[in-house]
Amino acid sequence: MKSSRRSFLKTGLALPALSGASVVARTDAAKDSSFDPWVEIHPGNLRHNVSAISRRVASRPILAVIKNNGYGMGVANAARLLEPIAEIYGFAVVKLHEAVALRDAGIRKPILLMGPFDEKGLDEAVRRGVTPMVYTPIGALLDRLAAKFRRAIPIHICVDTGLGRVGVPHLEAAALIRDLAGRRSAQIAGVMMTFTEDREFDREQLRRFEVLCGGLEKEGIRLGRKHAASSFGLFQHPGALLDMARPGMAIYGIYPEKEFRSAGVMDLLPALSLKARAIYTKKLRRGESAGYNRAYVAKDDVWVATLPVGHADGWPRQAAKGARVRIGDNLYPVIATVSASHTIVELGMEPSVRIGDVVTLFDWREGSRPEDVAAACGSSVYDLTMHLNALLPRRIVQSAQI
Ligand SMILES: Cc1ncc(COP(=O)(O)O)c(C=O)c1O
Repeated sequence: MKSSRRSFLKTGLALPALSGASVVARTDAAKDSSFDPWVEIHPGNLRHNVSAISRRVASRPILAVIKNNGYGMGVANAARLLEPIAEIYGFAVVKLHEAVALRDAGIRKPILLMGPFDEKGLDEAVRRGVTPMVYTPIGALLDRLAAKFRRAIPIHICVDTGLGRVGVPHLEAAALIRDLAGRRSAQIAGVMMTFTEDREFDREQLRRFEVLCGGLEKEGIRLGRKHAASSFGLFQHPGALLDMARPGMAIYGIYPEKEFRSAGVMDLLPALSLKARAIYTKKLRRGESAGYNRAYVAKDDVWVATLPVGHADGWPRQAAKGARVRIGDNLYPVIATVSASHTIVELGMEPSVRIGDVVTLFDWREGSRPEDVAAACGSSVYDLTMHLNALLPRRIVQSAQI
């Protein structure tokens, strides 16, 4: 699609007509352009991050977590771009429908389903070559399915070492694992746990896991790949990398914690951007207001621009607390309120932005990274890209962005 400002100006000028009573026929320019926000994906940055992670984990295999719509990238987009990378062993998702979508998209590497399933769901998972994460006594069900499919079913067993979420409690895990290991219907391909990310307690969790696994291995039980480290673990627990790393956020180039950004452990480049185009600019006179509840009142005459992106798109309401967006080479503060479909930014004394100008809500550059937006919002990076509306267009930008 063409992205010249000229074509957008044409469309911009046509906009008021759209609100009139008559239906405006779509012109070529209208087809060619859109004021809807969009998400850009940067494969070069994704590859850069995988290389950085691979160095950090001393070339252990990487199980790429691409749950929740590929952290905003689109689950199939993320998998298609990551699959050709040799360091990527496979993928982990939480929803069965995402696992199925990956197979439908032609993804062939292993897929671990870390979320729940019923008998019908497990049947489908096995049929599609998706490995379930299990932690309940489902041996009899595995026996039935293995008989039906005439093969042992690979599984990963999830052990709860203290997170209290899913996983067989670590003190009960040995009995379950022995039971499953004793069945010809099950093939234990991995055993896994998740850290609470409490630095002290994580050590105890790892100890519990190692005691359990060490004991079972001494009995001669094969546990497959043991894995625990998410992005946090890559930074914080280099001693807990075990047989495989299991990161999500770091793959997308985003530091999970503020202090990791300056730690010099891994250089990560955000592989997702959120963009939109300015749809309107206007001058507010001193004392005039903007936003619901007159959230912003102009102290002096000031130019503002309106962006067609809001919290329904996944751009957080809290962005009005101090996030800045990039237009050209400048950063402009978000003001007033972020409503469902609109955001207002303060331009200053001059109308330095024109209708149709591309606005970057976040990207890989200092000052407009997802971490900068999350910090301004007083929230976590986990509340940002994963919350992007799945219906926003995703565009893969091939040119190197580094
Ligand atoms: C079980 C499990 N492993 C790994 C991850 C990846 O975490 P992160 O995105 O922090 O790397 C997640 C995500 O929350 C998870 O739930």
